[in-house]
Amino acid sequence: MQGIIFNALEEFVLDNADMETWNCIIEETDLSSNGAYTSGVTYDDEEIVALATTLCEKLNLPLSDGLKVFGEFLFGFLINRGPIELKTYKTPQLLLQDLEGVIHKDVRRIHPDAYTPFFEYSVINDCEGELVYRSKRKLCSVAEGLIHGLAKHFSKEVKLNHIQCMHNDYDECKWNIKFS
Ligand code: HEM
Repeated sequence: MQGIIFNALEEFVLDNADMETWNCIIEETDLSSNGAYTSGVTYDDEEIVALATTLCEKLNLPLSDGLKVFGEFLFGFLINRGPIELKTYKTPQLLLQDLEGVIHKDVRRIHPDAYTPFFEYSVINDCEGELVYRSKRKLCSVAEGLIHGLAKHFSKEVKLNHIQCMHNDYDECKWNIKFS
């Protein structure tokens, strides 16, 4: 996982608690790196889940809920600090349509060792579509949070119906998404 995602997790903790809490989380988590993360460098996938697990234990929150809240924060972080200009998008659906072929493709162009998930978005009508997600990391909770962050960015409400999930033995996750 790219360092920028760890930087986002650190900022999420700093925004909601303080540096002492982040340092505690680093100390209490079994990490193969030393817990200092640089944007553009790749770290073990397990580390982000381990850090999120420690954080959720502290907050007494199920991991999937914590990952969703973090995902929502992450969208704003990537819009402001990510490597790609995204402010030109006029609707959330247009951005979702470009997620695979433009946005994550650009992430891989800039960071050739990045592993980005696969997404396919099919438009049903002006405010509804279907999103397919595949990744070895199975981080559908983060994806859901990111979609909530996306809706918030465009001042929209969103309803997500997780029709199928990789955690229930499907090959891919699928959501029906309605913006209003
Ligand atoms: C609603 C919009 C988005 C969704 C649903 C989404 C989904 C995801 C998910 C679920 C991951 C976790 C990795 C995985 O599942 O394998 C991820 C990773 C990532 N995404 Fe996105 N993303 C979105 C928008 C963006 C944007 C706007 C950017 C910034 C330019 C971005 C850049 C990245 C990067 C850098 C990673 C880490 C890749 C790696 O570690 O190798 N994403 N994305």
